[in-house]
This record gives sequence, structure tokens and C-alpha cells, in this order.
Amino acid sequence: MGSDQASTQHLEKNKEKQDMKIDFSKIVGGARGVILKPFFKQCGFPLVVEQGVKLSNITTIEIGDWVRIRSGSQILENVKIHNNVFIGHYCDIGRNTILEDDVTLADYVCILGDTHDYSNVDKRAGKMYSLGSRTIGKGAWIGYRAIILPQVSYVGRGAIVGAGSVVTKDVPDGCIVAGNPARIIV
Ligand SMILES: CC(C)(COP(=O)(O)OP(=O)(O)OC[C@H]1O[C@@H](n2cnc3c(N)ncnc32)[C@H](O)[C@@H]1OP(=O)(O)O)[C@@H](O)C(=O)NCCC(=O)NCCS
Repeated sequence: MGSDQASTQHLEKNKEKQDMKIDFSKIVGGARGVILKPFFKQCGFPLVVEQGVKLSNITTIEIGDWVRIRSGSQILENVKIHNNVFIGHYCDIGRNTILEDDVTLADYVCILGDTHDYSNVDKRAGKMYSLGSRTIGKGAWIGYRAIILPQVSYVGRGAIVGAGSVVTKDVPDGCIVAGNPARIIV
């Protein structure tokens, strides 16, 4: 047997094994989703909520169908999550955020909703306030450890935010941005 054929067989066997693997976080998270469903302002099905997810003021949060929220993530007030949205581990989603259909957030993504009044030099982090709402457009993919600052109100439909980026401005539809500060690369 040629080495190419052997490695194809090996890959196929691995895939079979992976297909058979039971994803307990999905099963337990699915049960958690069913239990939490009546508490949301609106909630579709199925919803997977993994362990350690913090939902602030759950009665203000709206969720669509086929949503998965991985462990350790935090979702604040008035967040609307549309259909088929994936939220990775340890994401932080600030208040008044809309995630449109088919959005994917990698792990440790941070979408900030609030900032502080910094006019007082004796205490820079003064009163906290919201800069309005923000929308992550349909099909956008936000890379690992990206930070979207509160002044950003729109990340375009089909946009990509590169891993580790700090987004300081709105991102047009279909663009790929990356870096700190994030710039359009494609
Ligand atoms: C944004 C991304 C999709 C771009 O991929 P790409 O189209 O193949 O881009 P390239 O690698 O050709 O890079 C194009 C340029 O942008 C720069 N760049 C790419 N990604 C970058 C990033 N995350 N931060 C800073 N600069 C970046 C490259 O250095 C390159 O610059 P140059 O032209 O000066 O050499 C990819 O780099 C990325 O960040 N993916 C996210 C991965 C992730 O988070 N995975 C988690 C699993 S969901």
C-alpha cells in the first residue's frame, strides 16, 4: 500500500472516531438551554449554553434558533442574538449589541458596550455610560481575542475581524480588517 493511501485511510479512521465522539458540553448545554428558555425575553430552539455562562438581566436578552454559547462567556443586557450564531469560550458581549444571523465569534472576543466619563482628572474612570447600540452584521466572523471598542456601531455583513485586532472604527460590509488599530487588509 502506498504511503498516500495509508495516510488517507488514517485520516478517514480519525474522522469516523471524531464523528462518534459524544460532545457532552453540547448535550448538557442543550439541557441548560431548555431550562433557561422561559426566562429570556425571547428564545428559539435549540440553544446550547455551556457551563459558567453569565447572562445579565436575562429577561432583556433575545435569542434565535440554533445558537451555541460556549463556556465562560458573559452576555449583558439588551443583547439580541439572531439565528445560527456561534459564541466561543470566554467572550464578553456588551449591552445593546445585536448579532445578526450566522455570526461567529471565536474565543475571547470582547464587544464593549460601555465606557466611562473621563473628564475628571482626579478619577478618570468616572460615571459609566453606553454609546448606543452596535450591530455585528450577518455572517461576520470575529477572530480570536479581537476587541471591538464601544465607539464602533457596525461591523459589516460578511466582514472578518482578524485575530487579536482592536477595532476602533466601523467596518464596511465584506471587508477584512486586522491589527491594532484594525485596518482594512482586503
Ligand atoms: C484576518 C485573517 C482571516 C486574514 O487572513 P488572510 O486573508 O490569509 O491574510 P494574510 O495572511 O494574507 O495577511 C494579509 C496581511 O494582513 C496582515 N494580517 C493578517 N491577519 C492579521 C491579524 N490578525 N493581525 C494583524 N495583521 C494581520 C498580514 O500580516 C498581512 O500583512 P502584509 O500584507 O503587510 O504582509 C487571519 O489572519 C485571521 O486573523 N484569522 C482569524 C483566526 C482565528 O481567530 N481563528 C479562531 C478560530 S474561529
